[in-house]
Amino acid sequence: MKSKILNILKKRENEFVSGAEISDALNISRQAVSKHINNLKKQGYHIESVSRKGHRLLETTEMYNQSEILSELKTKAMGKELVFLDTVGSTNDYAKKLAMNGSDKMVVISDEQTSGKGRLGRHWESEKGTGIWMSVVLKPDIEPSEAPKITQIAAASMVKAIEEETGADIFIKWPNDLILNKKKVCGILTEMSAELGGINYVIVGIGVNVNQSSMPDDLSDKAVSLKMGLDKTISRKAIVLNFLQAFEDLYDDFIKNKSLEKTIDICRKKSILIDKSVKLITKAGTRQVQAKDINEDGHLVIVNEDGKEEAVFYGEVSVRGLYEYVD
Ligand code: BTN
Repeated sequence: MKSKILNILKKRENEFVSGAEISDALNISRQAVSKHINNLKKQGYHIESVSRKGHRLLETTEMYNQSEILSELKTKAMGKELVFLDTVGSTNDYAKKLAMNGSDKMVVISDEQTSGKGRLGRHWESEKGTGIWMSVVLKPDIEPSEAPKITQIAAASMVKAIEEETGADIFIKWPNDLILNKKKVCGILTEMSAELGGINYVIVGIGVNVNQSSMPDDLSDKAVSLKMGLDKTISRKAIVLNFLQAFEDLYDDFIKNKSLEKTIDICRKKSILIDKSVKLITKAGTRQVQAKDINEDGHLVIVNEDGKEEAVFYGEVSVRGLYEYVD
């Protein structure tokens, strides 16, 4: 309800809207309107309330919270159930606790993570007020072996989301990283709970470095924020909204139409690896190979040491020696 009131005030920014008009429009009591307006004020909105005139929104600085996102979200289902937290250990862990009872396409966002998780047990730096720390809960009726495709869908969606908002040229380092100016700007951690009968849920965790002014010393040679790369403050809300829309479109195309075509098209066009010599790090060891393509299943096609093509299903790819960003 708060987000609906916010929407009305935003549409008429700087204009007084009477409590009666809001209560009629939303079919709630005048007391309920006052209660929600007071909550919005507590959240930091600059709303002026004058008796016999009503309420007007004077907000100019951008807010990042549940009402802001819900009031502008145009998706059918993605993110409509949105948990927004001030701080949490890890949004992936929090989402896991809600997943069994929560709805498909539920989203958890936190302004800060105190124990953000990266892949391979690494720590993910998630300072308050700077980045997008978000997890999406999905309950797809697909084979567990197909789940990695969802990571590709998320990567393609986030490229679209960031490029639309900022105009930046973002690249994908297959399979999970997004790159700006040869450094990592976003990482994706997909986790799954599955049984013999199929998938219980998939959690897609996405971290985007948005408005950090600098990176911790140990990361500065390989990680960057959008603000550092583009020299301006970027709207986290706009990127979240763009992402949820793009992700819903591409994910539905995969689940309903069984098509990954649009996703793979983006992954190919934006791949930083294709035609490069890359170091492939897997459990079996390290190999120097040539990256050739991303195939229709989202696998990396490489030319191996014997000149033969192979599709790589998993593993870590390092571009050591070619780019500053080293994984
Ligand atoms: C990586 O590149 O290693 C993956 C990083 C994933 C970070 C995100 S932030 C939101 C979500 N919650 C976590 O604890 N991790 C993911």
